[in-house]
Amino acid sequence: MTPPSSAASSAGTPRLRPGVPEDAPEIAAALRSALAAPPWNEDWPEARALDRVREILGMPRAYAAVAEDGNGAMLGYLLAVAQSSAAGFQMRVEEIGVVPMAQRRGIGTALMRRLVEESYRMGADCIWLASAADGPQAAFYASLGLTRNPRGALYGAMLR
Ligand SMILES: CC(C)(COP(=O)(O)OP(=O)(O)OC[C@H]1O[C@@H](n2cnc3c(N)ncnc32)[C@H](O)[C@@H]1OP(=O)(O)O)[C@@H](O)C(=O)NCCC(=O)NCCS
Repeated sequence: MTPPSSAASSAGTPRLRPGVPEDAPEIAAALRSALAAPPWNEDWPEARALDRVREILGMPRAYAAVAEDGNGAMLGYLLAVAQSSAAGFQMRVEEIGVVPMAQRRGIGTALMRRLVEESYRMGADCIWLASAADGPQAAFYASLGLTRNPRGALYGAMLR
């Protein structure tokens, strides 16, 4: 995904704007809706989704963008955080989603392109995110030109 220098939204794309803390409840509702569907089938309790969104928005150097329809209803969101690295800093996507009824209309692409524009402007070296290797989101990231790090791996341990 190359850093674009001009407007990323195509004609007909819902309006994109920066996300603000007051958007947290609507972003949380959209997140619950986007992640409830396959392949994730996640059942986010309302309060926990709100916590998740507020946690990210409260981080230093958080970045948020939302997509709305003409009536101001939230259709999509992207939450990211700029993090320090040896070379400078990089932008990590924490959450991205589009409500099911609005998917495949270019909203996810527009949100990612906006992130790239902003990250480039801020001087970030790269954008990255962690996700499942397979599934529709993998096709989405591939469509944007994002590549998988062949040396990458996720590590973790169950505590309960
Ligand atoms: C992944 C997601 C953000 C994509 O947003 P979107 O607005 O639907 O995506 P776009 O319309 O911009 O799609 C751009 C391209 O990505 C690919 N793509 C997107 N969704 C796809 C799907 N379900 N299956 C296959 N390819 C897909 C296609 O190449 C598509 O272009 P096309 O529609 O011309 O074929 C959205 O499907 C979503 O919110 N999913 C649930 C939450 C999620 O998975 N978040 C990411 C977790 S890591």
